[in-house]
Amino acid sequence: MEKKYVAEPYKIKVVEPIAVTTREQREAVIKKAGYNTFLIDSADVYIDLLTDSGTTAMSDHQWAGLMEGDEAYAGSKNFMHLQEAVKDVFGFKYTVPTHQGRGAENILSKITITEGDYIPGNMYFTTTRAHQEMNGGIFRDVIIDEAHDAMKDHPFKGNIDLDKFQALIDEVGADKIPYICVAVTVNLAGGQPVSMENLKTVSKLAHDHDIKVMFDATRCVENAYFIKEREAGYHDKTIAEILKEMMSYGDGCTMSGKKDCLVNIGGFLALNDEDLYQKATQLVVVYEGMPSYGGMAGRDMEAMARGIYESIDYHYIHHRISQCRYLGEKLSEAGIPIVKPIGGHAVFLDARAFYSHIPQEEFPAQTLAAQLYLQSGVRSMERGIVSAGRDKNGNQYYPKLELVRLTIPRRVYTYSHMDVVADSIIDLYENRGNVKGLKMIYEPPVLRFFTARFQPLSS
Ligand code: F0G
Repeated sequence: MEKKYVAEPYKIKVVEPIAVTTREQREAVIKKAGYNTFLIDSADVYIDLLTDSGTTAMSDHQWAGLMEGDEAYAGSKNFMHLQEAVKDVFGFKYTVPTHQGRGAENILSKITITEGDYIPGNMYFTTTRAHQEMNGGIFRDVIIDEAHDAMKDHPFKGNIDLDKFQALIDEVGADKIPYICVAVTVNLAGGQPVSMENLKTVSKLAHDHDIKVMFDATRCVENAYFIKEREAGYHDKTIAEILKEMMSYGDGCTMSGKKDCLVNIGGFLALNDEDLYQKATQLVVVYEGMPSYGGMAGRDMEAMARGIYESIDYHYIHHRISQCRYLGEKLSEAGIPIVKPIGGHAVFLDARAFYSHIPQEEFPAQTLAAQLYLQSGVRSMERGIVSAGRDKNGNQYYPKLELVRLTIPRRVYTYSHMDVVADSIIDLYENRGNVKGLKMIYEPPVLRFFTARFQPLSS
C-alpha cells in the first residue's frame, strides 16, 4: 500500500549535532540579531528552515566525487562532466559555471539588457530583479493574478498571464524586451509551478516576437514533479523526460545549483546561442573565473554534475515534496493560514492573516519569524515587505504577499523535525493576540532584508 507521506529513500551515514537552547538564551540571541533571522548565528539554531539554498546533504557518491576534483586552471575534466550533465539533462549546448545563481544572473543581465529595456517575469526574485535593475532594465510582473492571492488554490499558480505579456509587448514594443524570465518554480509565490502547456504557449508568443525565453531553473525538478502529478498527459513520463521538454521551450537558463543540483555552492548560465555564449565567456573571466571553472572548484563541479543526475531520480523528488506537504497539511489542519497549494521547497505562512492586528508597516512577517525563533529555536525567513525593498526612486514596494517561509533543506531533516516546527507554530497561533509588531532601525540601500535591524514596538 502506498503511504500518504513516503518515508526517506536514504539512510543516515553521518550526523551533525544541533543546538538545543533555552528561551532565555534565545531572547538574548534574537535581540542581538536585531530581530532579523538572517543575523542569527547558525550555532544558535535548532532547526534551520531559513533556506533550502546550499543547505543540502550531499550523497556518498557526491562526496566521493570531491576526491576526483581536477583543480586545473584551465580545461578541468570536472567541467567536461558538468557540461555533459547539463547538455544531457537540460538540453542546453553551452555551460558557463558561476559561483552561484546570482553570478549567472549578473552575466545574463549584462549581455542582454540595454538601459530602458523591459524584463517580464513570473513574479520577481530578489537577486534576479536586482541584477536586471542594476543593468538598466525595468522589471514587469506578468504572473497570473491568482499567484498574488495566498489562499487561492490553482494547480499552476506560477503560470505567465499571456494577456499581460502581450500587453507589455504592445505597450513598449518587442525590441525593448530582450527576454522573458520564466522561473520554474516561483519561489516568492510559494514555490508554485508553471504548467507545460503555459511554457509552450509563452515560448511561442515570445519567439514569434524574437524575444528570448530564459528560465530561472533553480527549482526546475520540483516543477517537473508537479507537472507529472497534475498535468494531463504527463503522469507516465519520467522526471527526466518532463524536465527536458520544459527546457526545450527556452533559449537558456540561469541556475542556482545550491537548490535542485543538490550541492552546497555553485551555479551556471546555460545557453544555446553561440554568440551569446561568447559574450558570456568574455564577462565570466572578469566576474567569476576562467570559462572552464567560473566560480567553482573542480571538485564542486564534479559534485554538481553528480547531483544533477541524482535530482531527477523519482524517489528523491517524491520524498522531498511529500515531506513539505506533511508539514503544510499538519499546519493547515490546525487552521493556520498558509499559502495554497503547498509548494515544492517550502511552506509559507500567511503572516497578514496570522497577525491580522499588525499592519504591514509594522512588519507582520518579520515579527512572526522572530517569534518562531524565540518559541522553539526554529529559524525561518521573512518574505514580505522587508524583502520587497524599494524601487529605483526609493519608494517602498507594498507586496500583496506578506509571508514567512519555512524552507525545507534537501535530505537533511526528518518528519519528527517537521512535527516540532508544526507544534511550535500552532502554539504561537493560539497565543497570537498579544504580539506587537516591529520598527526598522537600520536599513541598508540594497537587498535590505539580509542586514536590516529591528526593535519591538512597545510591549
Ligand atoms: N532564483 C531563485 C528563484 C532563487 O530562489 C535564488 C536563491 C536565486 C535565483 C539566486 O541564487 O542564491 O545561488 O545566488 N534563493 C535563495 C533562497 C537565496 O533562499 O531562496 P543564488
